[in-house]
Amino acid sequence: MVTPKLLLFTAALLSLAAVSTPLKPCPNCGSTPVPYPLSTSPTCGDQSYRIRCDTGTGNTTKQPQLLFDTVNDSYPITSISGPTQRLVISPSPLLPNACVAEDFPHQGLQLNSSLPFNVTSANTIVYLNCSDSLLRSPLNCSSSSLCHSYLNSTGGACLNAPLCCTFRAGGSSTSYMIRVRSSGCSAYTSFVNLDQGLPVARWPEPGVEIQWVSPREPVCAAQSDCDDRSTCGPDPVTSGAERRCFCNGVLVWDPIVGLCAENTTCHDPDGCEDSNRTALIAGLTSGVGGTLVAAAVAAFLYKRHRRIKEAQERLTREREEILNANGTGRAAKVFTGKEIKRATNNFDKDRLLGSGGYGEVYKGFLNDGSAVAIKCAKLGNSKGTDQILNEVRILCQVNHRCLVRLLGCCVELEQPILVYEFIENGTLSDHLRGLITTAKPRHLSWEDRLRIAHDTAEGLAYLHFSAVPPIYHRDVKSSNILLDEKMNAKVSDFGLSRLAHVDLSHVSTCAQGTLGYLDPEYYRNYQLTDKSDVYSFGVVLLELLTSQKAIDFTRESDDVNLAVYVQRMVAEERLLEVVDPVLKDGVSDLERDTMKAIGFLAVGCLEERRQNRPSMKEVAEEIEYIMSIAKAKVVEN
Ligand SMILES: *[C@@H]1O[C@H](CO)[C@@H](O)[C@H](O)[C@H]1NC(C)=O
Ligand SMILES: *[C@@H]1O[C@H](CO)[C@@H](O)[C@H](O)[C@H]1NC(C)=O
Ligand SMILES: *[C@@H]1O[C@H](CO)[C@@H](O)[C@H](O)[C@H]1NC(C)=O
Ligand SMILES: *[C@@H]1O[C@H](CO)[C@@H](O)[C@H](O)[C@H]1NC(C)=O
Ligand SMILES: *[C@@H]1O[C@H](CO)[C@@H](O)[C@H](O)[C@H]1NC(C)=O
Ligand SMILES: *[C@@H]1O[C@H](CO)[C@@H](O)[C@H](O)[C@H]1NC(C)=O
Ligand SMILES: *[C@@H]1O[C@H](CO)[C@@H](O)[C@H](O)[C@H]1NC(C)=O
Ligand SMILES: *[C@@H]1O[C@H](CO)[C@@H](O)[C@H](O)[C@H]1NC(C)=O
Ligand SMILES: *[C@@H]1O[C@H](CO)[C@@H](O)[C@H](O)[C@H]1NC(C)=O
Ligand SMILES: *[C@@H]1O[C@H](CO)[C@@H](O)[C@H](O)[C@H]1NC(C)=O
Ligand SMILES: *[C@@H]1O[C@H](CO)[C@@H](O)[C@H](O)[C@H]1NC(C)=O
Repeated sequence: MVTPKLLLFTAALLSLAAVSTPLKPCPNCGSTPVPYPLSTSPTCGDQSYRIRCDTGTGNTTKQPQLLFDTVNDSYPITSISGPTQRLVISPSPLLPNACVAEDFPHQGLQLNSSLPFNVTSANTIVYLNCSDSLLRSPLNCSSSSLCHSYLNSTGGACLNAPLCCTFRAGGSSTSYMIRVRSSGCSAYTSFVNLDQGLPVARWPEPGVEIQWVSPREPVCAAQSDCDDRSTCGPDPVTSGAERRCFCNGVLVWDPIVGLCAENTTCHDPDGCEDSNRTALIAGLTSGVGGTLVAAAVAAFLYKRHRRIKEAQERLTREREEILNANGTGRAAKVFTGKEIKRATNNFDKDRLLGSGGYGEVYKGFLNDGSAVAIKCAKLGNSKGTDQILNEVRILCQVNHRCLVRLLGCCVELEQPILVYEFIENGTLSDHLRGLITTAKPRHLSWEDRLRIAHDTAEGLAYLHFSAVPPIYHRDVKSSNILLDEKMNAKVSDFGLSRLAHVDLSHVSTCAQGTLGYLDPEYYRNYQLTDKSDVYSFGVVLLELLTSQKAIDFTRESDDVNLAVYVQRMVAEERLLEVVDPVLKDGVSDLERDTMKAIGFLAVGCLEERRQNRPSMKEVAEEIEYIMSIAKAKVVEN
């Protein structure tokens, strides 16, 4: 019979054996940060995401190196991006004087498909030394295939093995392996986000990009494995066979930082104070001689209350001063937490307009009855209050008919809150997808779309060229373009990233840009410039032209990314095939020409190299010109 004591002992042993601090991110490997959930040791990160930090035991001349272990091999990791959940490894080098990959004995790169890593579709794979059987494969092994340009300019042993092929990875058959074998190809290399138009000399270093699935809550054996924000409980996915640290109450799991966090609801840190105070008074008054004590306490509390109130008023005045320093342009207003709560009916869920990368937006009404949009900024690594006020001051001075006006901010609540003018008719994104539910939803005509494109371009050009200092939007997308009742476009959310600290290292915690709109050069140097806005705007132009989503997994795997898809169609001279059929219905030749012109302009904006993209000013002018052609048609008829 098992005694209770023994049981206790076993339980204690079990909990000791379990990982004791599962939420800890791992320390740097040498100077390279290891973002959560990647794990270099059993005491940090998430154990499903193991990589290796090779410190070159005993060899002091060697820099520590992160390695990615596959089924039978191991590859150096050259970069990691926590926010985008991707890392890049060096593909296997060739054996000396042969066109055979070093990992050929293990059939090339083979990821364990039970692990949460897979190969992304950003990889262009070049297969070398292939056998004739590849000619029957769907891969591009023609004599014009890109791999020949690569071979010609790199030379080496592979020139003696003339058959080579090129393909884009990430399809279902290639998401866990890049296979080499004698009956197929014997060597490979890969390039991330390759611009096929570039000469080989300007291609990036070879690399294989690998993404990881968002980590789930950490596994636990007992409550002691979890932090105070979470509770160890049975995992419904495994019907309770496993236990995980599930977030307490309203907190939600943030897979990027690996913590339970607020679900971006605006919260008042002082919210609990009142109830605590009344509890205190109630507790005291219930005692003997309660009234006397209560009177003293009440007097004390009243004095304290007044002092706090005076301090608050002073602070508000100081903040107003920072906001309106140098007195140029429109005055910005500092809103109090009370005003914001009243305006939103205490963040009533019914007032929620939406939530995006930067937080939630509520509709609110100010005391004078005017409608405003109230945005709770979810800023991963927020700046200090003064810096926020300074940034808001800059953004408030921006004044252009194609930009949503920022009226002021509130810095009293847990998150900074921005107050914008309210734009009646929803986002461009909703209009394009037909998600507008007004009484008479209106289909966006080509003329509407040209005007929206032009307004947006003008707004962005103003930010880039007329605002002082210049403001880069950094998150241009159709859901950030709002339409007023006359279907004029207004750009919103510009400059928001200025409010968050942007880490110098690429593992920035601040979400920048949106997948599908993100400048591919961002992956090279982790910087967003005015030309990144031009790129994102190019994607918006494609949305206007096609009414399709920037990222859509219901399209063919190679065409998931709208920019890539349309660029391919343009290269194949099939641009008009992707234009929204509704737009093509009964149009004149002239209108069709303007659609083509917008398509080509978009492709220009999507140029891989920043310096080849037009400036936002040039884009606005070009659209104006295209509009004048479209108008000429109207007169003609
Ligand atoms: C130590 O590392 C350096 C650089 O990687 C290498 O050249 C050297 O051979 C290593 N020495 C030993 C003893 O492993
Ligand atoms: C793949 O990963 C699973 C889970 O960690 C492990 O059990 C299995 O042994 C691995 N397979 C190979 C071939 O390494
Ligand atoms: C091509 O690969 C085969 C093995 O599959 C190898 O025997 C041959 O030497 C390679 N060709 C060259 C030119 O290296
Ligand atoms: C990996 O190594 C194991 C044992 O050496 C072997 O059985 C297996 O076939 C290898 N896998 C691959 C893909 O080469
Ligand atoms: C192969 O790739 C080349 C260069 O990208 C392209 O011109 C050619 O049309 C492609 N061929 C096939 C069959 O896809
Ligand atoms: C590669 O070089 C060969 C021989 O010099 C030439 O015939 C072929 O056209 C070149 N291919 C490419 C893609 O440049
Ligand atoms: C690869 O991983 C991503 C998430 O990281 C996932 O969405 C995708 O479905 C995976 N692909 C395959 C083929 O498993
Ligand atoms: C976070 O809040 C939003 C809006 O309130 C909701 O749609 C979403 O499901 C929440 N997320 C979680 C993980 O609860
Ligand atoms: C009350 O005060 C205590 C200590 O000051 C604090 O821990 C607690 O969260 C407060 N709020 C409520 C609602 O009890
Ligand atoms: C106000 O102007 C002065 C000089 O013109 C400048 O030094 C100062 O930084 C400005 N203050 C703000 C908050 O911009
Ligand atoms: C714009 O919104 C208003 C009020 O929400 C609605 O009455 C009007 O029909 C909308 N206009 C268009 C063009 O959708």
